[in-house]
Amino acid sequence: MIQVNKFIEDLKPSSTLAINQKVQELRHNGNSVFHFGFGQSPFPIHNSITTALTEHVKDNSYLPTIGLEPLRKQISVFLKRHQGIESNKDYIFIGPGSKELLYQTIMILDGVFLIPKGSWVSYLPQIKSKNGQYHILETSIKDEFKLSPEELDAFCNRDRNSQKTLILNSPNNPTGAVYKEEELEDLAVICRKHNVIVMSDEIYSQVNFNTEFSPSISKYYPEKTIVFGGLSKVFSAGGYRLGFMALPKDLWCLKSMYRSLFSETFSAVAAPIQHASIAAYEYDLSLKNHITNCSSVLKLIAEFVYNQLVSSGLECTAPQGAFYMMIGFNSFQNKFKNIGITTSDDLSEYLLNNYGVALLPGTDFYFQKHELFFRLAFVDFDGESVINSYANFDGTDEEFVITNCSSIYRGVAQIIQCVKDL
Ligand SMILES: Cc1ncc(COP(=O)(O)O)c(C=O)c1O
Repeated sequence: MIQVNKFIEDLKPSSTLAINQKVQELRHNGNSVFHFGFGQSPFPIHNSITTALTEHVKDNSYLPTIGLEPLRKQISVFLKRHQGIESNKDYIFIGPGSKELLYQTIMILDGVFLIPKGSWVSYLPQIKSKNGQYHILETSIKDEFKLSPEELDAFCNRDRNSQKTLILNSPNNPTGAVYKEEELEDLAVICRKHNVIVMSDEIYSQVNFNTEFSPSISKYYPEKTIVFGGLSKVFSAGGYRLGFMALPKDLWCLKSMYRSLFSETFSAVAAPIQHASIAAYEYDLSLKNHITNCSSVLKLIAEFVYNQLVSSGLECTAPQGAFYMMIGFNSFQNKFKNIGITTSDDLSEYLLNNYGVALLPGTDFYFQKHELFFRLAFVDFDGESVINSYANFDGTDEEFVITNCSSIYRGVAQIIQCVKDL
């Protein structure tokens, strides 16, 4: 009998990766699958970044644990210019993806972690792996599943003793919602009132459909907001594994803990990747335009999918950023019940087996199992050819989707067919 850490034994593999594997298997066996399950940026990485990577391919030494100084400096400039955030390069840390930095932060902080219903799948398993305390805060589709200040205040009034850390993600995975300035300002008032630490996951900041970047709560609550970001989503470089975090003034005292934990775990991010990232955060005009174009394509697709599904009676969040929306089949609940489907897990299996549609059930995003909500990721297309066609396209949005993202077009038609068949 092998003795193991029980809290890790209880974790299940991330469902995002599990569904991706199942879809690959089905496709391998000749089935056609419309893959709305996996949220990877489909676009090509800009050549200013790949050129810098090639130039540094021979850099083989370990870099400083918290990251290369010129990179930390460049991120600080980028945060100010392109995210409206004040930071200090000495308190910006580089890690192998923001996921690892979120995890190390969760390891360092004690107290209760607050997660709004409709949040990223990995926060809770990370907390559970250290047997941490947590609370899921209620949200509702009428607010696009954004956290209300009243809900946060009510929880903080009930639990006055523990240290509280709110994990806030905007633009949001899974809903595509982007918090507005005034919403963040209101949340900041409550955070300050109750001394809440905020982990602000801004990994999709520039993947915004309306503005250059998304508002940050750190503008209204700079003293206790830790900002997280990285290359994966904005720069389409998930496989480079580079993320950063910016520690706020009230938490500067934690720097040596982070440094020790980094040095005893991952040591430092790969040297060539750190050098390539300097080019990313220099954010030259051609790179900036590329990112704006990618966001415009995502907006067009998001609006198409949203309009189709809403006009067929489904509930949908209206994405303003990222690659996702939550869709709900709750108005068809009774009809699904008649065919023995009562949970989102049942329905996700039914959709995959009968309609070839892969969606992630809401249970992965802190919804109850009887709530028939799903995350739909709208990135199953060839980003390189789509971005090239977008430059010269002058047809309607629907024509664009039919011609360039046929898997999305046909997948949406399958979802609509499923509710028509009920
Ligand atoms: C909301 C959110 N935060 C963080 C991450 C982690 O990104 P990475 O570790 O690649 O920086 C992801 C990736 O899917 C995400 O969707």
